[in-house]
Amino acid sequence: MPSLLLLPGDGIGPEIMAATKRVIEYFNAKGAGFELTEGLVGGAGYDADGTPLPPATLEKAEAADAMLFGAVGGPKWDNLAYDLRPEAGLLGLRKHFELFANLRPAISYPALADSSSLKREVVEGLDIIIVRELTGGVYFGEPKTIEDIGNGQKRAIDTQIYDTYEIERIARAAFDLARARRRKVTSMEKRNVMKSGLLWREVVEATHKQGYEDVELQHMLADAGAMQLVRDPKQFDVVVTDNLFGDMLSDIAAQLTGSLGMLPSASLGAVDEKTGRRRALYEPVHGSAPDIAGQGIANPIAMIASFGMALKYSFGMLDEANALDDAIAGALADGLRTADIAAGAPSIDTEGMTDAIIAQLEKRS
Ligand code: NAD
Ligand code: IPM
Ligand code: MN
Repeated sequence: MPSLLLLPGDGIGPEIMAATKRVIEYFNAKGAGFELTEGLVGGAGYDADGTPLPPATLEKAEAADAMLFGAVGGPKWDNLAYDLRPEAGLLGLRKHFELFANLRPAISYPALADSSSLKREVVEGLDIIIVRELTGGVYFGEPKTIEDIGNGQKRAIDTQIYDTYEIERIARAAFDLARARRRKVTSMEKRNVMKSGLLWREVVEATHKQGYEDVELQHMLADAGAMQLVRDPKQFDVVVTDNLFGDMLSDIAAQLTGSLGMLPSASLGAVDEKTGRRRALYEPVHGSAPDIAGQGIANPIAMIASFGMALKYSFGMLDEANALDDAIAGALADGLRTADIAAGAPSIDTEGMTDAIIAQLEKRS
């Protein structure tokens, strides 16, 4: 039986996870047989167990085929020490399972071409994917400290580190993905000021020469890349970049689609040679949205589409994944909008959008 660990987290996390659970139950009613367990993470984990990543959650994660993660964080926990913050729970999961490849697709659904803050012609038909390195770089490099240095001054240090093998494996992930798409990879770094940028480019080039010549490779400085993403996003197919640049570039890409509430993601580990399986966590790109939490109005599409990515990347259920994508597009084509994508028009709530997506699935089955 395929098994999924649900980690709702904080803020709107539990609301969008409840919506997604209904979609999973729809597939179970059709015979998919997903076994579901739930765990505490983030602020919810801290409140119950004093840690954002309770040992019981890690145990359940070890046992599950894949994890679905809602969102973590919020003002209630903002003053905690770095290691106790809700976000540390998510970073801990990524690092523990070495989920180094974070796939963040940005797709403009035809019905939403006017919901973006950019002009219709700039975003219409957009289908790009950002491949973000997720377990290295400045997020995890040591030293990472804040210390008093006298005279009332403090010094904060974050360290950007990349080793050859980390760059090579994310480059391979990007080239492999591009092969199933439009065969174009754009690598973004800042080699003009960062040593890690120099190595990044060197290793991506070398990896490209190891049998990926059928894929077009282009390099861009990350600041210029951010500008190009807004100026003409359709020039890209696959963008590969480091952890911090990938965090920022994917929020930019999200807004191209109309709302941060639309973007799913998959965080994947290496394929185990013995079992053929890979560790995976699926999560929306957005956060816990404290400003709208508890109101039942969050857009559940990023979370539901993250489950869609699990169908595809963890369970090989391509027909079901496509049916779910079509159902989301169908609900949007019917004019249904949560508040974040309504642009002033009447909107429906989280449950209403979920009802519509499930009705679309029923219609197509
Ligand atoms: P955010 O993504 O939570 O919210 C940014 C804006 O987008 C808000 O106005 C919010 O209402 C809106 N938004 C986000 N998701 C939405 C959805 N599904 N439907 C409708 N509107 C949506 O970012 P933030 O406000 O900068 O961060 C809030 C907290 O979330 C922080 O504690 C941050 O660390 C955390 N965070 C967590 C994750 C994660 O768990 N993966 C990701 C990003 C931020
Ligand atoms: C994301 C988030 C996380 C990140 C935070 C919550 C740790 O912003 O997944 O994009 O910075 O990676
Ligand atoms: Mn982010």
